[in-house]
Amino acid sequence: MSDSVFLEPVRIGMVGGGADAFIGAVHRHALRLDGACELVCGALSSDTAKAKRSGLDFGLSPERAYGSYQEMLTAESALPPEQRMEAVAIVTPNHLHLPVALAALEAGFHVISDKPATLNFEEAQTLAAAVKAAGKEYGLTHTYLGYPMVREARHLVQSGALGTIRKIYVEYTQGWLSGALEQDNKQAAWRTDPSRSGPSGCMGDIGTHAHSLVEYVTASRMTDIRAWLQTHIVGRQLDDDGMCFFKLENGSTGALTASQVCAGEENQLRIRVYGEKGGLDWSQEEPNTLMVKYADGRQMRHRAGSNMPLSADAASMCRTPAGHPEGYLEAFGTLYINFARRLRGDQTAFVPGISEALRGMAFIQSVVASSEQNNAWKEIQNG
Ligand SMILES: NC(=O)c1ccc[n+]([C@@H]2O[C@H](COP(=O)([O-])OP(=O)(O)OC[C@H]3O[C@@H](n4cnc5c(N)ncnc54)[C@H](O)[C@@H]3O)[C@@H](O)[C@H]2O)c1
Repeated sequence: MSDSVFLEPVRIGMVGGGADAFIGAVHRHALRLDGACELVCGALSSDTAKAKRSGLDFGLSPERAYGSYQEMLTAESALPPEQRMEAVAIVTPNHLHLPVALAALEAGFHVISDKPATLNFEEAQTLAAAVKAAGKEYGLTHTYLGYPMVREARHLVQSGALGTIRKIYVEYTQGWLSGALEQDNKQAAWRTDPSRSGPSGCMGDIGTHAHSLVEYVTASRMTDIRAWLQTHIVGRQLDDDGMCFFKLENGSTGALTASQVCAGEENQLRIRVYGEKGGLDWSQEEPNTLMVKYADGRQMRHRAGSNMPLSADAASMCRTPAGHPEGYLEAFGTLYINFARRLRGDQTAFVPGISEALRGMAFIQSVVASSEQNNAWKEIQNG
């Protein structure tokens, strides 16, 4: 990661992410990674006392460890501009993404939110209108788009190294919902509750990552989808497993699977993209390697941090020397530093934004509709 340009740190207020939260700590570490952002305040829990306690535990000053996001927005708005937070990071369950984002935008703050952007596609349209009206930055933490070798994969496709793209396989398998965990695990409880998770469980939670990876690496939109969702755990309200066939606007086709009942799997996200001249293969559990196989038998192992030539984009995102692993926190950190760069005027810095938010929610909507209608082909609405 190039550190030659000093950025005045962007002051962040976080909603959610208090003690016992899953992804909040990752955001806290990642936003500080390059010194481009700092956490200055938070409304860190749905429980007021826990929110304040978490704020103190995380080093916030007592008066800026707020009991609710509404209180945080009001109090921060009253501070002098050079002190008040500049952006709100949203790391709550999905049903709160829209209300918190709308309130933050209305109060004049930028927003960086975890995925999926909203509860459903209609909400995403409301959000898109609000972002436009507010004229503020909106970032969506589609983590996997922050990996150097994912950037390299996109570069290879765009450079024509693989030729015309024909076939994409993407799979995202986890095993943590193989049992009825929702009885006593809060992360499982809200993810399997349609009122807090949205119309899909597994496809909304991790299928959206797979979808965003396909569209990003191929630089092409998914236009049509045929889906089959399943629920393996008796009594579970949402899908915990699914398969899709899809078409992209570049004429290629592919298959996407997402499952949270693949017992024993941790976080196996893998994408393979094949063109007429060769194919690439990237796995999240081995993130510093991008394998490329060519039709003439050559095989190239592209490695993050090594001396081999990488695209400028991918090379600029490597923080450690060859053979020294980097991964998840750094990928998140790249999204945060690019968000900071955008706020400081560099509109070339890439962070998934409101168009990716709309795309992700349109994907979920079409997957659910297809599965409910006997796996019929469904168009994916353009956001
Ligand atoms: N990008 C990724 O790779 C990734 C990974 C995991 C989770 N996520 C997303 O992050 C979000 C959070 O997931 P999680 O697993 O950390 O959930 P979690 O249940 O562990 O944490 C949610 C947090 O939100 C807080 N909260 C709930 N209501 C609140 C309110 N009204 N005000 C303030 N705080 C409130 C909870 O108290 C808790 O601290 C979800 O949208 C999820 O999809 C993204």
